[in-house]
Amino acid sequence: MDNKRRVRKAVFPVAGLGTRFLPATKAVPKEMLTIVDKPVIQYVVEEAAAAGIEHFIFVTGRNKGVIEDHFDIQFELNETLKSRGKKAEFDLVQSMLPRAGTTSFTRQQEPLGLGHAVWCARDIVGDEPFALLLPDMLMNDQKGCLSGMMDLYATAGGNIVSVEECDPELAHKYGIVGIGDSIGDGFRITEMVEKPKKGTAPSNWFINGRYILQPEIFSILETQERGAGNEIQLTDGMLKLADRSSFAGYKFRGDTYDCGSKDGFIKANIAFAMARDDLRGLIEDDLRAMLKA
Ligand code: UTP
Repeated sequence: MDNKRRVRKAVFPVAGLGTRFLPATKAVPKEMLTIVDKPVIQYVVEEAAAAGIEHFIFVTGRNKGVIEDHFDIQFELNETLKSRGKKAEFDLVQSMLPRAGTTSFTRQQEPLGLGHAVWCARDIVGDEPFALLLPDMLMNDQKGCLSGMMDLYATAGGNIVSVEECDPELAHKYGIVGIGDSIGDGFRITEMVEKPKKGTAPSNWFINGRYILQPEIFSILETQERGAGNEIQLTDGMLKLADRSSFAGYKFRGDTYDCGSKDGFIKANIAFAMARDDLRGLIEDDLRAMLKA
């Protein structure tokens, strides 16, 4: 089968419990925590839209209804903004709405792992390749991480994962790939190891939260046993998929922030605020003073 079919749909798994960010995430989904003035999930959806994605699929869970509301019209808010003549604010809220009929929401009733969350999207994705974006990983790069991956996909086809380098001493914390021949802005992947034992990692390139996957992953996840942490692991499924379909790694060269962790979230807020003309001047002197204190 053609392994370069167009990627039109993206899956956003947002059903995790966000335990690393308690108590903030007790009632507010971690994907709705704000980086400057937009929820994290909004940035990731914009990255997907910029890469040409036409349909946005959210795998949600209990207490995540506010994510669905965020991508819907807020009638009262709209009317109030209009009646008060707040045109700029009205236009801003409108510009962030996906076109009608381009979002789908399905529920993962129990958080049984990332692999299980992806499997929950199988009927909506259907028999076509799809992008998968972990919404707590925020990528800061002019080109857009998924756009770069799409370019590599046009050459390499098959499955693509975005990868970046980590301190080799920390490789045991990540999903690590083995490096094969160069292709486009990346390389063929020879192996994948989830959290390799210290000193055994095939490289220091780790999978950082963006994927293009062929739909065969769904039948693999369907029968997959639980793995590490007693969860259905996506990496275990990808390892099986690699037996029949190629994987390439896209070398992501921008900055990555894990907004599901406190330090990543704070760093993202500072970096995104410092990159904004309307905010930089307001905060940089205070930041410098704090660093000196
Ligand atoms: P994380 O590993 O960050 O898990 O999941 P988490 O449960 O959300 O957060 P912590 O570790 O308890 O703080 C990576 C992504 O996969 C989703 C999460 O929502 C997150 O976007 N996920 C994870 C699911 O949708 N379902 C799951 O069962 C697990």
